[in-house]
Amino acid sequence: MAWSAEDIPDQSGRVAVVTGANGGLGLEVSRELARKGAHVVMAARDQDKAGEARASILPEIPDASLELQPLDLASLASVRESAGRILGADLDIDMLVNNAGVMGIPERRTEDGFEMQLAVNHLGHFALTALLLPALLRSPAARVVSVTSTGRHTGRAIDPENPHLEGRYDPWRAYGQSKLANVHFALELDRRFRSAGVPARSIVVHPGFTNTDLQARSVRETGGGRSQRFFRAAVIRFGMTPARGALALLRAATDPNAVGGALYTPRWVNWGPPVRRPLFGRARNRDAMTSLWEVSERETGITFDVKPPA
Ligand SMILES: NC(=O)c1ccc[n+]([C@@H]2O[C@H](COP(=O)([O-])OP(=O)(O)OC[C@H]3O[C@@H](n4cnc5c(N)ncnc54)[C@H](OP(=O)(O)O)[C@@H]3O)[C@@H](O)[C@H]2O)c1
Repeated sequence: MAWSAEDIPDQSGRVAVVTGANGGLGLEVSRELARKGAHVVMAARDQDKAGEARASILPEIPDASLELQPLDLASLASVRESAGRILGADLDIDMLVNNAGVMGIPERRTEDGFEMQLAVNHLGHFALTALLLPALLRSPAARVVSVTSTGRHTGRAIDPENPHLEGRYDPWRAYGQSKLANVHFALELDRRFRSAGVPARSIVVHPGFTNTDLQARSVRETGGGRSQRFFRAAVIRFGMTPARGALALLRAATDPNAVGGALYTPRWVNWGPPVRRPLFGRARNRDAMTSLWEVSERETGITFDVKPPA
C-alpha cells in the first residue's frame, strides 16, 4: 500500500519545528502535523506570509496548535535569536524539519559573507540543528529531516578552500553543492547520533518535482533566466501538488519505521508516494562528510558535538 498522509500516526503531545513553514512544502508539512495533533513551530522569514500561512490552516483545523517563529537562515544572528527563543520555551523537540531553501538564484552574499544557497540550504540549518540539539536530545525519539533534491547528482562535495565558490559561481553549481551537502549532513548527523548512543534519527528526503514557489522565485530573482524558466514551465505542467510533495518529508518525520541515515523519495524519482531508496557513490563519501562538518563548524563558529544528555 502506498504511504499517504492518512498513515501519519497521532502526533498529540509532540513538538515539531518546521523551517520555511510559510509556503510550499513547509506549509503542507505544518498543516498535516497540526492535523494529527502536533504543536508546530512555524519558523519563517517573511512574517506577513507566515501569518497568511497560519490563517490558511486554521479554518480547516480550528484547534491547530501553531506558533510563528521569525527565522532568517541567511543570518547567523537570526538563527541564534530564533533558536534562543525556541529553547526558552523549554519544550522537547520531537521533529526538526529543515525544509527551507532557495534554488538557482544569482550570486549573492549573506551578511556573514556566505554564498546564499549554501547559507540558506545548509549552513543556516547546520547552525539551527546544533543550537536546538539539547531540546532534540531530550525527546525520546527525535527526528531531524533534511531536504535534498535531484540537484545533488550534479553537486560537488564542498571544497574546504572555497566553500562559497569565489570566482566559480554558477547558480546550478551552487544549488547542487548545497543539496549534496544536505545529504552529507543528514548521514553524518545520523552516524553521530548512533555513535553517541542517543535515540534520535537523522533522515534525508527528496520531495519530488513539486509545484511550489521554488521555481517561480528562481525566475524572479534571475530576471527570467532561461534554465530557470524551463523548470518553472515544466513544474506547472508536470509537478506534483505541494500536498503530495510534502509526503516524503512527513514520512521521514513520523513513520515509526523510517530508518535513520536513509533516503526517502517518491517511488518514480520525482513523482509518486514516498519510499526508501538507496544512496550511491559520492552521496556516501565519508571523507566528504567529515570535511563538510569541519567546514560548517569553521564557517558558523558553532561546535556541533553530539553527546547524550547529562
Ligand atoms: N519544489 C520542488 O520541486 C523541490 C524539489 C526538490 C527539492 N526541493 C526542496 O524543498 C524545499 C522546500 O522548497 P519548496 O519547494 O517548498 O519551495 P518554496 O515554496 O519556494 O518554499 C521555500 C521556503 O524557504 C523559505 N526561505 C527561503 N529563504 C529563506 C531564508 N533566508 N530564511 C528562512 N526561510 C527561507 C521561504 O520563505 P520566504 O518566502 O519567507 O523566503 C519558503 O518558505 C527546499 O529545500 C527545496 O530545495 C523542492
